[in-house]
Amino acid sequence: MTNTVDTPDFYTYPWATIEYVERSGEFITLDFKDGSRLQAHDWWLRESVVTDGACDPTTREGTLDPADIADDLQVTSVELDSDGALAVAFSDGTAGRIHPGWLHHVATHRHRVDSHLPPIKVWTASTFSEPPTFNGRAVLSGDEELKAFLDAVCSYGIARLTKVPGEGSGSVPEGLASVTDRIGVRRSTNFGDIWNVKAEIRDNSENSSANSGLRLGPHTDLPTRETPPGFQLLHCWENSVPGGWSRMSDGAAVVAYLKAEEPDVYQALTTLNWVFFNRSREHDHRWSGPMIDLGLPGSPLTIRAFYPVRAFPDMDPVDVPRAYRAAKRFHQLGADPRFEIGYPFRAGDLVAFDNRRVLHGRDAFDPGVGVRHLRGSYIDHDEVYSRLRVLTRHHESQHQSFFEGVSA
Ligand SMILES: [Fe+2]
Repeated sequence: MTNTVDTPDFYTYPWATIEYVERSGEFITLDFKDGSRLQAHDWWLRESVVTDGACDPTTREGTLDPADIADDLQVTSVELDSDGALAVAFSDGTAGRIHPGWLHHVATHRHRVDSHLPPIKVWTASTFSEPPTFNGRAVLSGDEELKAFLDAVCSYGIARLTKVPGEGSGSVPEGLASVTDRIGVRRSTNFGDIWNVKAEIRDNSENSSANSGLRLGPHTDLPTRETPPGFQLLHCWENSVPGGWSRMSDGAAVVAYLKAEEPDVYQALTTLNWVFFNRSREHDHRWSGPMIDLGLPGSPLTIRAFYPVRAFPDMDPVDVPRAYRAAKRFHQLGADPRFEIGYPFRAGDLVAFDNRRVLHGRDAFDPGVGVRHLRGSYIDHDEVYSRLRVLTRHHESQHQSFFEGVSA
């Protein structure tokens, strides 16, 4: 079957078979051969025709201003063409054909935000003792390897690469830049695009407690932002100090535990707001939110847990005592051996983790007996999800054409 119908995107869809078309009020119901069903509103079908001034053939973006839609716009005829495409005519005199495979991808929910992304896998210290690990050089060169790495990053919220080269030279970027460039656009902050974590940095107005030998309890970075960075990548250039092990725990597991076992603590953490406040001389970032921000249904979990920048209770004074006790309990659990894993950083290791889900920290170390130099960067959820969807779509289309012998 040959695709002769443009779709409102630039993707390729296997041809699908529509068996029944039925009109019901303002909807057209489509039943597909595989049992899936789509209820398509008349106006949505009008927007979905790539011609006739509703969807631009060049950009495949909608061009129909809803304010210009006639109140009485409706489908006047709908039928299947001989090749199975859906032929639709509208009361405004327009008509067009719609790809049945494209309609089928909507019927089977492949248009949703979570489509082409792996399911979340909540983990504890009994799931693994070190992050799922991949060969960094392979990820830098192969798309299948990059997909496997990003699958782990998105499902577990953490994955590690080994053998990532360090400092670049000439036109060759450093390893961390190379990895993030394979994914998307880095998120720069007042700490820079790519920043250092090194104990000897003590004279920078953007300095933080990360640049010391102090223990860092379980935390998430930059809760001072309306939307904290989605993912964080830490790349080890050098580590010759004893101690300083990295500590990680899955905040999603801690949240699930609290919801089931300690509902009063869970209620306080999900509803009582704190002002998180960046204390730099040059910047004034602030945001108020709960330590466990569940967001809207379907949106990613956002944990705001960084006590160095948790500044003021933003709640009725009567709630402050239980808010503090809940915060204490949350940080206790983040470092609890049931949830927390610990592992050393070796030169060439790059750990990527969901900064809004996974709590990270480190053991104390003595900066006087060696060098511990990490390089860090952020990249938002949007960039990682977009890259993974593209890789997964490509992967799936290869398998579809191999197994089904059908191309659109
Ligand atoms: Fe941090």
